[in-house]
Amino acid sequence: MTPPVPIAADATYDRPELRVPHRVPIPRYLETVYWWAYVHPRAVHLFEREWLVNLILFGNYGRLRDRALAELGTPVHGRTLQVACVYGDLTLRLRAALACNARLQVIDILPIQLKNLLAKLPSDERVTMLQGDSSSLTTADASFDQVLLFFLLHEQPEPVRRATLAEAMRVVKPGGKIVIVDYHRPARLHPMRPLMRAVFRNLEPYAIDLWSHEIEHFLPEALPPASMHKETFFGGLYQKLVLIR
Ligand SMILES: C[S@@+](CC[C@H](N)C(=O)[O-])C[C@H]1O[C@@H](n2cnc3c(N)ncnc32)[C@H](O)[C@@H]1O
Repeated sequence: MTPPVPIAADATYDRPELRVPHRVPIPRYLETVYWWAYVHPRAVHLFEREWLVNLILFGNYGRLRDRALAELGTPVHGRTLQVACVYGDLTLRLRAALACNARLQVIDILPIQLKNLLAKLPSDERVTMLQGDSSSLTTADASFDQVLLFFLLHEQPEPVRRATLAEAMRVVKPGGKIVIVDYHRPARLHPMRPLMRAVFRNLEPYAIDLWSHEIEHFLPEALPPASMHKETFFGGLYQKLVLIR
């Protein structure tokens, strides 16, 4: 395996939507486990193809994206936080669905991912991008109406995943919504089960946690959601979980 390439020191952006107030350290799991998907410059070049993202999700990308977006509303009102960039057109569609006075903030820990998103999005004063750690957000309590986590939790080691969920609960307003789309334990005889187990074992070591436990298991005990609604897709391999704080 090629060793991970350090993040380029350059973080100059010529668009006001992107704010890099200070350098946030890159977590070790991204550098050592996910360098091939997000950190290496060639990774962005390789994976920023919708057909490939769709292939990785066995043709379910469009459906999962649309179900997540539908949960956020049509149009999307208020302040929405998207935690972590996503390959494909999810954020473009989310931006297109924003009401005139709505706001979208996207945070990601990798400047290279924020730059990639910036290149995909038209300039829009309603959208801001910020370098930040999902497990330690700088945002004030109860400052968003809704929070979106799209295929992030399975990539995080358990303590980080727990902290990310706790932060999402903290920054969403009481009565606000957290929309999570991620892996889920598939049916016992699911034809993709052996393949996905091998993928997780070799490439995505934390993802198996979402087969062993419901996402609820990782939620903060001190701040339980007022309600939860889960829907599964594609024989149970994927889930959409909607939490109301
Ligand atoms: C949302 S996840 C996976 C998305 C999905 N596989 C896709 O792109 O279609 C990938 C993103 O999460 C970001 N990420 C991982 N850990 C993070 C953290 N602790 N804080 C903020 N962003 C994080 C990575 O930098 C990457 O851009």
